[in-house]
Amino acid sequence: MTHPIWPLFDLRVRTPRLELRYIDDGLAVDLALLAAKGIHEPDVMPFGIPWSDVPPPQLERNTMQHYWRCRAETTPTSWAIELACIVDGTVVGTTALESNDFPTLRSFGTGSWLGREFQGRGIGKEMRVATLQLGFLGLGADYATTSAWPDNEPSLGVTRSLGYTPNGHRRQLRRNEAGMLHAFEMPRADFLVRLHRDDITLHGVAGCLPLLGLAP
Ligand SMILES: CC(C)(COP(=O)(O)OP(=O)(O)OC[C@H]1O[C@@H](n2cnc3c(N)ncnc32)[C@H](O)[C@@H]1OP(=O)(O)O)[C@@H](O)C(=O)NCCC(=O)NCCS
Repeated sequence: MTHPIWPLFDLRVRTPRLELRYIDDGLAVDLALLAAKGIHEPDVMPFGIPWSDVPPPQLERNTMQHYWRCRAETTPTSWAIELACIVDGTVVGTTALESNDFPTLRSFGTGSWLGREFQGRGIGKEMRVATLQLGFLGLGADYATTSAWPDNEPSLGVTRSLGYTPNGHRRQLRRNEAGMLHAFEMPRADFLVRLHRDDITLHGVAGCLPLLGLAP
């Protein structure tokens, strides 16, 4: 059934291996509980913002608030599309597209995490390709960007394996110390030539376009 007010709730991306679904409150609970089980070793921080350092139950509450905030603050010039990743009926993690001034700049960034038990099985790479297909084919992006800390091998592994172009570094706080994020981009032509897949399908995109400031 089509959502009468918030079309993003109908957004889906399907691959033979997984489904991405816009995060409603039920999926937000699943992801909050998954995050509380642990995403990484306590002595490393994979994220730009160290949100996963917070102990339960605050971590779960913060996670819910993050998804509510993303929905509440969606405008044509600033949005984060947060999607749950579901494999064989189980919520395994999340991927997001984020952008400011997308109707003009046609560029979006991505971010993702998987529950620990689901890492290292190729899901992160499949999830990123599905996310790129939504951004490039569904939303008409010209560029995708991503970044990771230099010691985050799994994240850099996904980025490297998909053939992004390195485009510099960004000095940024990491757990209150100076760190250097490695940045990458992928132009649309690269995606279309090398990564576009006919077995990845987009659902419910057209209804979302006006909400994102894009022509249907
Ligand atoms: C980052 C993350 C989403 C990647 O997903 P994943 O399912 O674990 O990664 P995949 O199994 O799809 O691996 C993708 C590629 O990276 C490579 N890779 C994975 N782990 C690696 C490691 N430790 N060292 C080197 N390469 C690695 C894989 O070989 C694969 O490349 P290939 O297809 O060319 O062989 C996941 O590991 C995760 O959630 N990590 C914790 C949170 C996080 O770091 N989020 C990103 C913040 S920037």
